[in-house]
Amino acid sequence: MKLNILIVGAGAVGQTYGLHLHRAGHKVTFLVRDRVAREIRKFPTLSLHRLRLLRAPQPVRFQDFAVLGDSEALTQHVFDQVWLCVSSTALAKGDWLPALVRSQPKATIVTLQPGLRDGDVVGKLCGEARLVIGMISLVAYQAPLEAEVPHPGVAYLLPPGAPSPFSGAEPARVDAVVRALVDGGCPAKRVADAKAPASFASALMMPHLLALQGAGWSLGAVRHGSWLDRAAAASRDATAAVSAHLHVPPPLGRLAARPVLIATAVGLGTKLAPFPLEAYLRYHFTKTLDQTHAMVNTYVEVGHQHGLEMRDLEALRDAVRRGLG
Ligand SMILES: NC(=O)c1ccc[n+]([C@@H]2O[C@H](COP(=O)([O-])OP(=O)(O)OC[C@H]3O[C@@H](n4cnc5c(N)ncnc54)[C@H](OP(=O)(O)O)[C@@H]3O)[C@@H](O)[C@H]2O)c1
Repeated sequence: MKLNILIVGAGAVGQTYGLHLHRAGHKVTFLVRDRVAREIRKFPTLSLHRLRLLRAPQPVRFQDFAVLGDSEALTQHVFDQVWLCVSSTALAKGDWLPALVRSQPKATIVTLQPGLRDGDVVGKLCGEARLVIGMISLVAYQAPLEAEVPHPGVAYLLPPGAPSPFSGAEPARVDAVVRALVDGGCPAKRVADAKAPASFASALMMPHLLALQGAGWSLGAVRHGSWLDRAAAASRDATAAVSAHLHVPPPLGRLAARPVLIATAVGLGTKLAPFPLEAYLRYHFTKTLDQTHAMVNTYVEVGHQHGLEMRDLEALRDAVRRGLG
């Protein structure tokens, strides 16, 4: 069955998921800022390229989609699925989300944001039955990054063996979301709970991103001195807060937050990734800096609500804020 799918945000993630949903034969409409809608209508073609391990990038032209500006009335349209492909902070900004959810009373709402409370916020608006929570396992960015051969447009990588997991109260809705991606060539799977693994992964990652910011976005600098030790201690705080909030034990216990493992993973990633990892991290997480800091603040707040000490996370956050290192 051909689905009518609305994608909010035609950034790197929105374009990549949109391309694959279109390839599966579904009608894709992007909801974008009015100025972006005007630009796209002048030249309704999106250029992407798929990054591949040990092979040259594969250019893709994406046409045959529709676009709506953010001041246009959504009530005249009926969508089967609405995919929220914006950051956590964009989700919370303004009053567009309640109006959007109200305008689509039957649609499945797919939320992909990494914030601990994002799923709860969207679930309250649309009701748990309509909510599908997903974790983005792809990497996508506006190319070229510095030091890259210019391939303008969105570069994306579907990492092998890492399908995007989705879960929700209604299996049929989750299956429809997963099938739509898989049919379009984007690996995805239904899991019992996508939220807890995504939340724990973020709790591990966000303090390390703070450390990377503190180290001037240099992977070399973050490996030296005390950054990794401080990030590991801070991520143990964040993980404890997530665990208390979700009433779920952390999946890997305290093992994952080990500086030696993080340093090894970063070293391997730098060698194997078919894109400049350091430049990507700097580009993406400078763009989403407000999201990282908001997420860290949420861990601190939630931790305190549960009577936990958040000293290491607060110390790292405050040092990075003050630019002290
Ligand atoms: N890219 C990745 O590799 C990756 C991987 C994992 C997770 N994620 C997460 O996925 C989320 C999106 O990332 P991204 O890389 O796609 O970011 P992005 O390239 O900045 O795309 C987000 C787009 O959404 C637009 N937008 C924001 N609010 C909107 C609204 N109310 N209506 C219409 N458009 C709106 C933004 O426009 P403005 O700039 O005008 O606000 C921007 O064009 C982030 O939370 C990110 O952390 C990304």
